[in-house]
Amino acid sequence: MYIDELKLRFYRNYQRAEVNLINGMNVIIGNNGQGKTNLLEAIYLLSTTRSHRNDDDRELINFTQEFASAELTVHRHDIEDKLGIVIHKNGKTLLINNNPVRRNSEFIGKLNAVLFAPTDMDLFDNSPRVRRKLIDIELGKLSAAYMHDLSNYLKSLKERNNYLKGVTDQIMLETYTEMLFEPEINIIKERAAFIDNLNMYMSYFYNQINGENDQVTIRYQSMIDEKNDREVMLQQLKTNYNNTLDRDVYLKQTNTGIHREDYIFYLNEREVSKFCSQGQKRMIMLALKLSIVQIIFKIKREYPILLLDDVMSELDANKRERLLRLLPETVQTVITTTDLQEMSLIDPKNVNVIRVRKGMID
Ligand SMILES: Nc1ncnc2c1ncn2[C@@H]1O[C@H](COP(=O)(O)OP(=O)(O)O)[C@@H](O)[C@H]1O
Ligand SMILES: [Mg+2]
Repeated sequence: MYIDELKLRFYRNYQRAEVNLINGMNVIIGNNGQGKTNLLEAIYLLSTTRSHRNDDDRELINFTQEFASAELTVHRHDIEDKLGIVIHKNGKTLLINNNPVRRNSEFIGKLNAVLFAPTDMDLFDNSPRVRRKLIDIELGKLSAAYMHDLSNYLKSLKERNNYLKGVTDQIMLETYTEMLFEPEINIIKERAAFIDNLNMYMSYFYNQINGENDQVTIRYQSMIDEKNDREVMLQQLKTNYNNTLDRDVYLKQTNTGIHREDYIFYLNEREVSKFCSQGQKRMIMLALKLSIVQIIFKIKREYPILLLDDVMSELDANKRERLLRLLPETVQTVITTTDLQEMSLIDPKNVNVIRVRKGMID
């Protein structure tokens, strides 16, 4: 898929902007604070309905205005859809071909974008919740069943927690616990398969950028060991909940479950969060994002678009060059930079250069 004709109105520091994009490499160039990330953010917003930078949509509205809007056209196979989003002070409207859509889920599948943002590197040092969120988002885009199981699980978890707040009866509590098992087994299977998939690509991409022969691994720290046999998984889950039962009753909350799992990253068997430099973390994060692009292609038979914000900084010239060579030509890419020198390998003839200054496209 690819996008073009991005139009913004009162979005962040843009009053009115039209950006033409090509189905290939697009480079947004400008000094700091001019509006490069804002453009990527708007595209990401049209993919996920959320900004990657903040939770409060109102921050997207230009300081002097009452609303903000963004739209673009997405092309997939022979289908063309115009996606739009309007942010008001008290909510937002999603539009497909100028018609408002009722459910977010109708909108979210239309444009698949994989974004690398500099803040992504916090992932390694952040709490498990942040790592779970990343995997949940990416897996949710690939599998409707996963989203369904996850929302079922969270609903049942809430019910169990509510029940724990009152006086608990053993048999009733068991019933609440058993409600968790079915979605939990599905979720663990899907998470395990997704991480296996990522592990097939991660080292390859890392080594392509780094030019050496290292091993990048993600380990899924699941609540149970078994990931295949549903019967064995069920038994292990039961044991797990039995072991935390007293604690659950005492603390009045559910202390085990897929809402407590984690994913740990390793470079050559050493934990990334403890031993890796910023540059290494950056390359691992890039490898992760490029792996996700490949997995999306493998499953959907269609490439997502790739948004790269400030990827080049902290990489030395060799690595930049290797990264640029690595970007698949078949993937529409939008990349930001403060300095075209960083992109010197790229033949300007094949690139769409977008110059940004003070919220205006030159
Ligand atoms: N709601 C808003 N209204 C007007 N300007 C904004 C708003 N939000 C952010 N900005 C401005 O946008 C600029 C930052 O844009 P950004 O895209 O992050 O820059 P960069 O080119 O460095 O990526 C800053 O000058 C900031 O003041
Ligand atoms: Mg920026």
